[in-house]
Amino acid sequence: MDFDKRYDHYRAIAENSILTACGRFSHVEETLAKACIYSLTAGGKRLRPVLFLSVLDAFGCLDEKYYPLAAALEFIHTSSLVHDDLPALDNDDMRRGMPSAHKKFGEAFAVISGDALLNAAYELCFNLLCDDGSVGVRRACRYISVAAGAGGMLGGQGYDLDEEKKTDSEEYLLKTDLLKTSALIRAAIVSAGLIADKSIDETEVFGDKLGLMFQFVDDLLDATGDSFVVGKTLGKDSEEGKITAVSVYGIDGLSEKITVLKNECLEYIDAVFDIDNRPFFKELVERLARRSF
Ligand code: IPE
Ligand code: IPE
Ligand code: MG
Ligand code: MG
Ligand code: MG
Repeated sequence: MDFDKRYDHYRAIAENSILTACGRFSHVEETLAKACIYSLTAGGKRLRPVLFLSVLDAFGCLDEKYYPLAAALEFIHTSSLVHDDLPALDNDDMRRGMPSAHKKFGEAFAVISGDALLNAAYELCFNLLCDDGSVGVRRACRYISVAAGAGGMLGGQGYDLDEEKKTDSEEYLLKTDLLKTSALIRAAIVSAGLIADKSIDETEVFGDKLGLMFQFVDDLLDATGDSFVVGKTLGKDSEEGKITAVSVYGIDGLSEKITVLKNECLEYIDAVFDIDNRPFFKELVERLARRSF
């Protein structure tokens, strides 16, 4: 199967799982339900669920009973975006080519819909744990919960926002990005590996490198990209004086760093996946480095 077909196959599974998981909002307060569904269905690459499903597949364990975890990863990611866009954080008016949640529903509903999305992700995990309490699933759910929290993604958001401690140094940048972005991307890969009985060590570094490269490309696009294509207001990082990979390395230096990280990812792919699956993951890394899909 060529790359696009295979990505679209996982993406379709992710979309269905997200829609199924949205069913839980049909009996809740109407504006809250609308706000949750709006942010979840606004688009997006669905990268985290696609990674989870493709890694499961590469390890011979793709099974519909695990699909709710693909949705859970996207719920966690979407909750982080809803909160990330709030005026108190990045103050962004556009997300996925549409008005961000607080622009559409007001700040209060953006706050509680972000909370509701995060909570729903754990409902999905607990439901799966009740239905299939295998060791792999237990470890996967634990890994995802740690990666999403204060020791992972949210901790990274903390570093990103801590005006008093921020320094324009590579050390601070790496600490921030390995948490705010790598943690959840890594969790998508590692959790699939855990279900397939792989150790954390076998997949973790690939996830870290891919996540770091992903955030570096995001920072580069903020400085040089096309808002229509990216679906966000660009130029915000420098406007807000953010410490980003652009402020630390400069545009040319950053392009070189992205190439180095891309090559490291390609090497890890050889170590992690069998020969039949390497082309898919290599093409994914190439496209994420260019952000050409
Ligand atoms: C945006 O993530 C936030 C970052 C971690 C840079 P994505 O670029 O994956 O956003 P969507 O899901 O495609 O909208
Ligand atoms: C977002 O980083 C990371 C998380 C949401 C956890 P950014 O603030 O750079 O993401 P965008 O550019 O708003 O998508
Ligand atoms: Mg941010
Ligand atoms: Mg932001
Ligand atoms: Mg950004």
